Amino acid sequence: MAERPFIVGNWKMHGTRAMLSEARAIDRAAQRYMKVEVAVAPPFTLIHAVHREVEQIAVGAQDCHTAEAGAHTGDISASMVADAGAKFVILGHSERRENHAEDNAEVRAKSEAALEAGLNLIICCGESAETRDKGKAEQYVTAQLRASLPQIDNAGERLTVAYEPIWAIGTGNTATPEDVAAMHATIRGLLTETYGEEASASIRILYGGSVKPENAKELMALPDVDGALVGGASLSADSFMGIALAAAEVAE
Ligand code: 13P
Repeated sequence: MAERPFIVGNWKMHGTRAMLSEARAIDRAAQRYMKVEVAVAPPFTLIHAVHREVEQIAVGAQDCHTAEAGAHTGDISASMVADAGAKFVILGHSERRENHAEDNAEVRAKSEAALEAGLNLIICCGESAETRDKGKAEQYVTAQLRASLPQIDNAGERLTVAYEPIWAIGTGNTATPEDVAAMHATIRGLLTETYGEEASASIRILYGGSVKPENAKELMALPDVDGALVGGASLSADSFMGIALAAAEVAE
């Protein structure tokens, strides 16, 4: 567990202005867990509004374009989300890789654009059930990350990695503690190889995939698990902050 665990809510395509009261409730509760860094990534349309409502938590985006501006109808650039109040961006989520055919090179290009715009990064990785069944999960995730991570001098300050096995997302199934610990150790090894020992030690590796208040403590207590990337359970302040509480207890 990192010195300051990171609990991030990925709201995905959920939320209208009616969700602002939930953001306020998350923000108020986060003030009780100063040992934990809490953040939410709402849809683009809510970034600015959530940013204006909160004091304690950071706000992020769920994607950005590789270009700064241009003829890209419907796309949003990193500088636009930064201007709206985002401090970080989630990149390479499996839903984007699947629904928008994003490959590793695109994730890396987006991450370079985001860094240029002053955003911090949460880069996602994770294998399918088929890959895990074949015994190739670690090999797959290593190759995926190796090709997605940007060249960056201060990775320890700018980068977070999220391991989200695809088969655990939104299914109620979580990976076994042994599998999570083994994958996070593999990812730590890759980060050390890529950025050096000192930077790697400060990069937080989050686990994602059906994290709930009920299973958060066991997951957060695993070596090299420095927080969580939470989908469904981040849509309510009660369940999301139950996860933050679990992280705070483990961090103590
Ligand atoms: P769930 O927590 O809903 O499984 O989603 C995880 C996820 O994809 C977060 O990015």
